[in-house]
Amino acid sequence: MSDAKIDRRKFVAQAGAIGAAMAASPSPAQSTSGEQSKRVRVGVIGCGSVSRAYLPHLAKCRHVELVSTCDIIAERAKTQADAHSVPKSYAHIDEMLAGDQFDLLVNLTDMQEHERLNRQALEAGKHVWSEKPIANSLASGEQLLKLANKKNVRLWGAPVTVVSSAFAFMAKTLAAGKLGKVAAAHGEYGHTGPRWSAFFYQEGGGSLPDLGVYNLTTLTGLLGPVKSVSAMTSIVTPVREIDRVGEVTVAAEDNAMVLMDHGDGVISHVQSGFNYFNPRGHDGSGERRHTIRILGSKGGMGLVGYDWEPHGVDFRTKDQSESKRYATESGDYAWQMGASLAAECIATGGEMLITPEHALHVLEIIEASRESQETGRRIGLRSPFKWPIIS
Ligand SMILES: NC(=O)c1ccc[n+]([C@@H]2O[C@H](COP(=O)([O-])OP(=O)(O)OC[C@H]3O[C@@H](n4cnc5c(N)ncnc54)[C@H](O)[C@@H]3O)[C@@H](O)[C@H]2O)c1
Repeated sequence: MSDAKIDRRKFVAQAGAIGAAMAASPSPAQSTSGEQSKRVRVGVIGCGSVSRAYLPHLAKCRHVELVSTCDIIAERAKTQADAHSVPKSYAHIDEMLAGDQFDLLVNLTDMQEHERLNRQALEAGKHVWSEKPIANSLASGEQLLKLANKKNVRLWGAPVTVVSSAFAFMAKTLAAGKLGKVAAAHGEYGHTGPRWSAFFYQEGGGSLPDLGVYNLTTLTGLLGPVKSVSAMTSIVTPVREIDRVGEVTVAAEDNAMVLMDHGDGVISHVQSGFNYFNPRGHDGSGERRHTIRILGSKGGMGLVGYDWEPHGVDFRTKDQSESKRYATESGDYAWQMGASLAAECIATGGEMLITPEHALHVLEIIEASRESQETGRRIGLRSPFKWPIIS
């Protein structure tokens, strides 16, 4: 249903007036003709798997001028720079920061490296778009946000599920009370786990920050901040075979069940893991199951496919027992669009639906889930974020 769709550009433009007061002004990029353009100069650090999805999106974004790539494996940085006509490539963040100037760091490195590199970039006065997680803990993530505010720069973290038309439809349906009294929700995402890098399984990695993070972002975005968490996590496969590395001992959870209390009687559940048989693998395009479900006293909704690549929302109510599908048009939504959105916000002074506070709340849920597993207790949460995201 197209009227349920939030047009991203319209949103950024509408929110621009508020954002302008808050956002740091972009350093204007100098175009080859000598004219001042509003393009934001971007440096991409981490040139592995996900960079192959981000870089083409950034290269097409009219607000972006790609300045440099960086990877500790220098050849990867050079290959990606050459593939996307990026002028410079570096093998270390120090060289990158001392090299050709840029405004926005896009951090696509190993999960354990995000916090340290995000901090270094913020210290150097760069805006940051970070893949998840934004930091290794809530406390250090809050410090990063303080630092960003002090430096008058912006900080955001993946994922982008709250900007999809499916999310907008679900949020508006909930806000309109069409489900009656909301009671329960479920989210699930899993596959048999990546083989290309060991960090997914090492301390600071895990299926929660890699996969569960999408459903946690979507369900907290729809149902509101979580008051407390009870969880069980486990390691199902203690040793993994990783390409070019060999056997790796698994230290982080590869199986997780998280129960969340959103207050007012609403309870949700997220399950994620690296041991789920899934014929779709990492590719979301073929998935048609409901991976997010929300139930209330008068109706229910199911998101078709993954929340990071949704194909619509099936919705039925007491009065309309036949399920109907809505929000099937995705517009320009893409799961890899976050850094381009960040550049757009910096260039226009706009705001977006994705906030660092929401990313920090999800990080706190992940920390609390692990604490709940360790202690056998239910864990209270404290971090706030602006909600509802869409009313
Ligand atoms: N691969 C995907 O499909 C996918 C999708 C969405 C999000 N992500 C997220 O993106 C991030 C990266 O995942 P990936 O699959 O691309 O991993 P990857 O291993 O393929 O790539 C990570 C790259 O970062 C580089 N790197 C590590 N530390 C560095 C440092 N200090 N400085 C510079 N470069 C460094 C590595 O050499 C490697 O090339 C993770 O947070 C992951 O959760 C991945």
